[in-house]
Amino acid sequence: MKNNAIFSLKKVSKVFPGVKALDAVDLHLYPGQVTALIGENGAGKSTLVKTMTGIYQPDGGEIIFNGKPVQFHSPHDSHALGITAIHQETVLFDDLTVAENIFLGNYPMTKYFSIDWSTMVTRSQEILSSINAPMNPNQILRELSIGQKHMVGIARALSVDAKVVILDEPTAALSHHEIHELYELVNTLKKQGKAILFITHKFDEIFALADRYTVFRDGRYVGEGFVKDVNEAQLVEMMVARSIDETYPKKDVNIGETLLEVVNLCHTTEFANISFSLKKGEILGIYGLVGSGRTEVMQALFGTSEQVTGTVKMEGKEVTIHSPKEAIDNGIVYVPEERQKQGIVLELPIYQNVSLPQIERLTKNGQVDQEGEMTLARQYCERLQVKASSWNEKVMNLSGGNQQKVVIAKWLATNPKVIILDEPTKGIDIGSKSAVHAFMSELVDSGLSVIMVSSELPEILGMSDRILVMNEGLIVGELSRADATPEKVVSLATGGIVVC
Ligand SMILES: Nc1ncnc2c1ncn2[C@@H]1O[C@H](COP(=O)(O)OP(=O)(O)OP(=O)(O)O)[C@@H](O)[C@H]1O
Ligand SMILES: [Mg+2]
Repeated sequence: MKNNAIFSLKKVSKVFPGVKALDAVDLHLYPGQVTALIGENGAGKSTLVKTMTGIYQPDGGEIIFNGKPVQFHSPHDSHALGITAIHQETVLFDDLTVAENIFLGNYPMTKYFSIDWSTMVTRSQEILSSINAPMNPNQILRELSIGQKHMVGIARALSVDAKVVILDEPTAALSHHEIHELYELVNTLKKQGKAILFITHKFDEIFALADRYTVFRDGRYVGEGFVKDVNEAQLVEMMVARSIDETYPKKDVNIGETLLEVVNLCHTTEFANISFSLKKGEILGIYGLVGSGRTEVMQALFGTSEQVTGTVKMEGKEVTIHSPKEAIDNGIVYVPEERQKQGIVLELPIYQNVSLPQIERLTKNGQVDQEGEMTLARQYCERLQVKASSWNEKVMNLSGGNQQKVVIAKWLATNPKVIILDEPTKGIDIGSKSAVHAFMSELVDSGLSVIMVSSELPEILGMSDRILVMNEGLIVGELSRADATPEKVVSLATGGIVVC
């Protein structure tokens, strides 16, 4: 069955100080087929991608391409064979143009050995339109949305005549519409006979797109097979070696007095007439499509948005929030969606990231209480099951999902009254997801209030006491937990019939 694989890894290992990220793993990719690689946060998926593309050198095992053992000394070597990857944290350059980003390190040359700018622009245009992402190749990357930047990353990967295309959590940053386009692109690549590796935590994607699966657990190979022969529960069991209770751990909590009141919040361009209240012990779900203004409203509550008018009251008193510091002082914290950019200092160790918002409190006579920082980090990171060799590890060495958990830990540790979680489980594996949900339940049980922005319907319906639905910058409906159904929520979000 493995004879016709175009690309195979056999017993490949990769060791970092204190972590065996890959322990003799196998993987096989086949022309014209999509293989899903699945495993919990920190299972070794991104490390494998970097080993397959020459960014890391394996410490053991064999890489076989077209039946022959190969060695990649750098990404150049793998590129030359047509192996291309869109990494979880795609490195693109904000100050370069779209075309320069697509061809970086691989610029087309004229016969006089200078860069052939016009070919570069024409080829960029061709590649972008082939993936249905028309854009001006001369535009500076900084001016694009996250989704558009992602398409540039994909165009970059396809700028070589790829035989193997690797996508590491490609849909985590995309809107519904963009996700749909990406699926179409994957199917086109498949029809062209390319071998595709698709890494995702979303099971619906595995079943919609993949022909085969391979499962890793803690850096080890667990098994592989055809997607048509398994169901979700079997895959989950392989991933985590236990079954996960998929019912949402929502506790019945006594809901108290109104804590936060927002009256007529308006933004010059993003939203208008936003009024709602949040009670003590309540989980308020905010649902809306990307672009509905939900994130912008949350940013306004955290003081990171200008051009906002309206009133915010905490415990009946009007408060002014013009900066995150004022928000934190008033007991409001915000865990952003784009955690890598807005939430974390990659070069600092975990414990210093967690203690950062409280550094003043933890400093006495000019000395930072390092023990206190460690205790804080341990307490919250253990609760969220952050996987790291120590709390002293730099955040840049953590897996993508574990970095996200550190940001959540940091804000929870500030002991807020209101915590706003924007897409709390994006990029987080299924086992840790239920840990995050259980933690939310405990938080409200201990008197906190939660605002949860999410585009995952089961999460919104499973965890919220009340749901506000946004569409085009307005709140278009409010549903109680008992009244909410997937149909009602989606119909409101997409501008359908307003039922209340
Ligand atoms: N450069 C590095 N230095 C030290 N440890 C590392 C480095 N890169 C990864 N690791 C460790 O290797 C393990 C595997 O990480 P990897 O990023 O491959 O996980 P992943 O399966 O991609 O997880 P996720 O789903 O969260 O993206 C983790 O324990 C991580 O902390
Ligand atoms: Mg990863």
